[in-house]
Amino acid sequence: MSKLSIEDLSIFAKKKGFVFPSTEIYGGMSGFFEYGPLGVELKNSLKQHWWKTFVQDRDDICGIDGSIISSGKVWEASGHLSSFADLLTECSKCKKNHRADHLIEDKLKINVEGLGADALNKIIRDNKLECPECKGSLKEIASFNLMFPVQVGADATKDSTAYLRGETAQLIFTAFKSVVDSSRVKLPFGIAQIGKAFRNEISPRDFLFRTREFEQMEIEYFIRPKEKKCPLLSKRQLDLEVLFYSESAQKSKKEQKKVKISQLVKNKVMGEWHAYWLAESYLWYTELGMQEKNLRIREHTSEELSHYSSGTFDIDYNFPFGWKEIHGNANRGQFDLTQHQKFSGKPMDIFDEETKEKMIPWVVEPSFGADRAFLAFLYDAYHEDKERGNIVLKLHPKLAPFKVAVFPLVNKIEEQALQVYLLLKKDFISMFDRSGSVGRRYARADEIGIPYCVTVDFDTEKDKSVTIRDRDTTKQIRVKITELKDVLRKLLDGEKFESCGKVLSQK
Ligand code: GLY
Repeated sequence: MSKLSIEDLSIFAKKKGFVFPSTEIYGGMSGFFEYGPLGVELKNSLKQHWWKTFVQDRDDICGIDGSIISSGKVWEASGHLSSFADLLTECSKCKKNHRADHLIEDKLKINVEGLGADALNKIIRDNKLECPECKGSLKEIASFNLMFPVQVGADATKDSTAYLRGETAQLIFTAFKSVVDSSRVKLPFGIAQIGKAFRNEISPRDFLFRTREFEQMEIEYFIRPKEKKCPLLSKRQLDLEVLFYSESAQKSKKEQKKVKISQLVKNKVMGEWHAYWLAESYLWYTELGMQEKNLRIREHTSEELSHYSSGTFDIDYNFPFGWKEIHGNANRGQFDLTQHQKFSGKPMDIFDEETKEKMIPWVVEPSFGADRAFLAFLYDAYHEDKERGNIVLKLHPKLAPFKVAVFPLVNKIEEQALQVYLLLKKDFISMFDRSGSVGRRYARADEIGIPYCVTVDFDTEKDKSVTIRDRDTTKQIRVKITELKDVLRKLLDGEKFESCGKVLSQK
């Protein structure tokens, strides 16, 4: 594991304009962040790529953009008002509330994920744990609901209390019938959404990992309840080998193991639909360059399952503060649509043309945290290059905030370089940099992850060509200006660097 701490990464992110603490001029607010000029580009690229992969490139998934505030009835039906809570313990002296599992994990360095109030109370008592702030004694654990209430309109009544959404998923369920009635979707199909969600976390921490305002990229995938076979499942998913941490291994404190998705299906650890979506989700991260050694799949223990789930598998990233969830893949079954049918009085069943039956579909939910993906991609890309003496942010070109930088070798040829920059700027997010030595400019570009640097030099006038330098290898190729756009397009599509131009010898 890299030695870079999450605090150091947050300092780097602030210095380079990726992420700032929110409203810092007023002292900031715990659990809220702002994305800066580079961060917003990286996050937008990440979301656009997700939308393209899971919505635009497929025929079976369509998108929606639901409202952020919705009535209490929605959240009563979904179970969030009664069950969406964390366990906290209050200090009897300074009155500060602490999230019980975090307090225990910080103090005893043990994993207590999924344990209930009784078990956590016992650990606190047995280990004589005290308030980390003032050493006061800790009270019995209580439950704290995470939903943010908001008052809608001028007249405050019980019915006018609405909520900031605790997950984007519910807006997909409430829009389900409207999508079916207005679109030509046929089972199996999915509805996707990217958007903000809010949770009143007791102890936000670990930079972007646990925040009170965050963004989700979620798919609710609707299937026939009786259809166990997934026709989409192919060699691509079945042959995928992953590090897997089963419920039984966690309970018996055994190691996680490498397994193929096909084995998990064969051994009935998960159904075919779950396997398909888990593998496709995993591949989304790795195809964008995330290192497999930092990823694993973890089965939820029965104690930690969400109130709506009959089986969940997380994709975890190996952060400096431990293996933590960046993606959840839950089997929500018919829970949500049935609940909304009951609470709204509106039928949620649909007619399936293939079986000629009316049914409430079954749901598999691939749920991605956009900010957690951002954090994992940033962490994964961060490299301290000893030879170069600078940081190299090895972001996948599709995610890099700037795709290309243009430099004049010396200021005398700045005009020519500006022409090249203006040519590229129309098609690629580009940067022009004329200050300092070329070495210094390469280093600045490396640190913010620019994959390709184009240098205009003394020969450009004669050969109408420029040099492209590859961020990760520092190799260089010479390319005609007339071909530059095509070459960059090919490189950004993954073509081998050396095959895109005349390779220059490196001094
Ligand atoms: N929709 C799943 C979650 O918010 O965790």
